[in-house]
Amino acid sequence: MRILILCTGNSCRSQMAEGFLKHLHPEHEIFSAGTNPAARVSTHAIAVMKEIGIDIHSQIPENVNMYTGQNFDYLITVCDNAKQQCPVFTGNVKQRLHMGFEDPYHATGSEEEILNIYRKVRDQIVKEFTEFSKNHIQKAMKTANDGLKNIVKEKYGNIAKSSSCCCCGDTSTYTVFSDDYKQKEGYVKDADLSLGCGIPTNDAAIKKGDTVLDLGSGAGNDCFVARALVGSEGKVIGLDFTDEMLEKARKNVIKLGFSNIRFVKETSRICLLTVTASMWLSAIAY
Ligand SMILES: C[S@@+](CC[C@H](N)C(=O)[O-])C[C@H]1O[C@@H](n2cnc3c(N)ncnc32)[C@H](O)[C@@H]1O
Repeated sequence: MRILILCTGNSCRSQMAEGFLKHLHPEHEIFSAGTNPAARVSTHAIAVMKEIGIDIHSQIPENVNMYTGQNFDYLITVCDNAKQQCPVFTGNVKQRLHMGFEDPYHATGSEEEILNIYRKVRDQIVKEFTEFSKNHIQKAMKTANDGLKNIVKEKYGNIAKSSSCCCCGDTSTYTVFSDDYKQKEGYVKDADLSLGCGIPTNDAAIKKGDTVLDLGSGAGNDCFVARALVGSEGKVIGLDFTDEMLEKARKNVIKLGFSNIRFVKETSRICLLTVTASMWLSAIAY
């Protein structure tokens, strides 16, 4: 995500906002600029940001012109629109937002009084940009993440469905890696949908009596091999979010009559389960 924060001097408010948002979201590209940039970032802005553990001393005021022609997901103006004319940006922007903050640049009084004015504006910036992060950035990331998970679920759902009628499933629209499990103790043919990309039980040093948690267990291929390693005194839990995979895995358990292996749904239960597991294997999309 690309975000541009604009005010006039790009010395105080937009620099504090840039620093705070970068601190919250180092994974995104955050910029700030002004229509009439100052020579340097305000030393008071640097000082009050340092008080909350954010270092903005290496940020530099920039002219908004250098961003014209670039694409941004958000353009946020932070000028005090009651007293100032907010900058106009003509670049390509998906969403424009305005958050008005008083300009602390001309604050007068003792050093402490000036710093207090900066602290007040900093705290307002922190509050407003935390809300912005929740309502816009985190929401967008969740939507993108959910979309990705749905694609993964659909793909594995199709693999599980097609493999119930045909040997290796319909692999014409995706690539699957295949490892040979056939010689493994505990191997269950109906659980093997040729999805293995490396056999995790080879490296997991699983011992008799262990409890193994397999994240992304599919139809149970790795779980059944792990079950042979933990023995009747151990336990295996397979976790998957694709219903079709779980259905196949559970059918295999019923058919084989095992009582120390079970398959559960959803990643939200991981915390609960890892407390009791001595070992976990993972093949999931986070
Ligand atoms: C590569 S397959 C592994 C299958 C199994 N280990 C085997 O060898 O057959 C990955 C499995 O992880 C599941 N999965 C992917 N991301 C997940 C997530 N975030 N939560 C739960 N299951 C997930 C998929 O539904 C799929 O069944």
